[in-house]
Amino acid sequence: MKLAVIIGSVREGRFGPTVADWFAEQAAAHGGFDIDVVDLADFDLPRDLPAIPPMMDPGGPRPASVAALGERLAAADAFIIVTPDYNRGYPAVLKAAIDWYVTEWDSKAIGFVGYSGASGGLLAIEGLRQVFNELNAHTVRNYVSFPRYYLLFDAEGKLIDPTEPNAAAAALLDQLHWWAAALTAARNVAVG
Ligand SMILES: Cc1cc2nc3c(=O)[nH]c(=O)nc-3n(C[C@H](O)[C@H](O)[C@H](O)COP(=O)(O)O)c2cc1C
Repeated sequence: MKLAVIIGSVREGRFGPTVADWFAEQAAAHGGFDIDVVDLADFDLPRDLPAIPPMMDPGGPRPASVAALGERLAAADAFIIVTPDYNRGYPAVLKAAIDWYVTEWDSKAIGFVGYSGASGGLLAIEGLRQVFNELNAHTVRNYVSFPRYYLLFDAEGKLIDPTEPNAAAAALLDQLHWWAAALTAARNVAVG
């Protein structure tokens, strides 16, 4: 199974890579996935979508940055979205990354790791569940949330007490792997 861990914030000074690095370590320890950490800051995605919506023209011509990210997404069987809450929602860059693609998300398993102030990324995660439903992706129940993350990580970006988060990550990865395997098998069956 191939797992893409997507860093969903791109602002200067962001905390997202610290959370993604921790999760990638947990995924490597889990052993069930080949891991690709995808940093949306590496892709200058255009804000403006094409005249024909991607849903109606999934293989249409794409700007180079969109094509490059699309290859990384297409290769994945499962995704972890690492997201903060931005005004009770998810960052705009994540919506752009979602809306440019269709088949890259279709029938794949998606899990979430959230962090922020009091709400720990959960408000962003709930919004993303609705969005991915429209793309025929399956969002798994388990998640990891870091409310007031700044109290939980030290200055080197390490968790002060990793016991509960590591256990939550392991449970999420088990569930994600089950769904990714089931959906990969189902995608490989010709329908009709
Ligand atoms: C535009 C913006 C809106 C935010 N809104 C919320 C919010 O609604 N709830 C919350 O708990 N934290 C909120 N925060 C705090 C962020 O969760 C925190 O700054 C976090 O570090 C952002 O992730 P990043 O560092 O990876 O960009 C907001 C931060 C920004 C920049």
